[in-house]
Amino acid sequence: MDRIIVEGGRRLSGEVRASGAKNAALPILVSSMLTDGPCVYDNVPALKDIESICLLLEDLGAKVETSGSKVQIDAKGIFKHEASYELVRKMRASVLVLGPLVARMGRARVSLPGGCAIGARPVDLHLKGLELLGAEIKIEHGYIDAIAPKLKGAVIYLDTVTVTGTENLMMAAVLAEGETILQNAAMEPEVVALADVLKGMGADIEGAGTPEIRIRGKASLSPVKASIIPDRIEVGTYMVAAALTGGDVTVTGCNPHHMMSVMDKLRQTGIKVDVVGDSAVRINGNGHIKSIDIKTVPYPGFPTDMQAQFMVLMSVADGRSVITETIFENRFIHVSELKRLGADITITSGSTAVVKGVPGLSGAPVMASDLRASASLILAGLVASGETEVNRVYHLDRGYEKIESKFEGLGAAIRRVRE
Ligand code: UD1
Repeated sequence: MDRIIVEGGRRLSGEVRASGAKNAALPILVSSMLTDGPCVYDNVPALKDIESICLLLEDLGAKVETSGSKVQIDAKGIFKHEASYELVRKMRASVLVLGPLVARMGRARVSLPGGCAIGARPVDLHLKGLELLGAEIKIEHGYIDAIAPKLKGAVIYLDTVTVTGTENLMMAAVLAEGETILQNAAMEPEVVALADVLKGMGADIEGAGTPEIRIRGKASLSPVKASIIPDRIEVGTYMVAAALTGGDVTVTGCNPHHMMSVMDKLRQTGIKVDVVGDSAVRINGNGHIKSIDIKTVPYPGFPTDMQAQFMVLMSVADGRSVITETIFENRFIHVSELKRLGADITITSGSTAVVKGVPGLSGAPVMASDLRASASLILAGLVASGETEVNRVYHLDRGYEKIESKFEGLGAAIRRVRE
């Protein structure tokens, strides 16, 4: 298994370009299933998770062609309605095929995703929504079996804000008969990006980006061409890296409007953050970081996917920080690894960690446990003295495109050891 070795202590500077957002690309690639011809997307990041969803779409009968960051998906030939355990277990987001498969084929059999390192992550709200749209759902032998010869619009209240749940139901509702209203919908930019692509296919959707989305079903949709929005979590990760190393980094090709909560928090720590034009942000660290408190909440609040990276920043900040995770029940797995590097972190309850800033971290071998935890270990390695060896980096390859070369371009001493 590959490892990444980081030699800490280098100040980062220069420009780095954001890749397309994994979490926008996944539902958008899947939405091609709602049409009968070639959909073409650009700015698709080259990531393991993207490969996984393409394999799943091919397995269902779609034709997928990839050339650089361009992906063409022609779903005319979809003949299967089953997403196997073998494919779903590699990536939970595979459950996104459930809604569009039922809408298109009248039936879907999708392996029930298990829990994952960061929490139980049930899909009950995806299922409740589909039932309200008229699907008959059974769970048997580890599979979700959903049958609905024709979905019918409904009012669906989601008790918890769920990103992929909102996306799944939106994709089912665009081909349902009549009007669907999703209440307490997720407002993440990735939900809006999917809605924009669906609208490009001819769907009638209003309110994406607000808690109430109205969808009037159409009999059919047409193929579309679209570009994937920038990855706000990748952008945030490079911003924190710059802040941590007292660097001067400009992240280009991003959407600063999606970065408001992260920029606000960084400014509170005393870091200088400037929006440059409409697609870049410049971070100027002065080596002095003030401790602040953080609470993860759904968009537009502070993202859970940035919690681990901010925890590293707080580890070397001046003072004491309380970090509260409200989205996932087990998202502090990186704490024990950060402590191995010398961080002073105490988990005071399942959802709260207290971080007392220390003058410096010291490199050590560490183990990545999930995608964002892996990123936090690389960040810690950038400021730790000596060498940090991050093991199990396949988690990183799921979500960060060309991470070593991007950091290298900013002046980091980082290399991958392939095994
Ligand atoms: C998506 C993102 C992930 C991010 C998360 C929260 C993708 C592919 N992944 O994951 O990177 O960390 O949003 O911003 O876009 N829940 C239920 N029942 C459900 C669905 C969710 O109880 O049916 C709960 C979850 O356990 C969790 C919370 O709702 O506690 C939010 O999860 P959700 O927004 O669904 O996360 P994902 O869409 O899986």
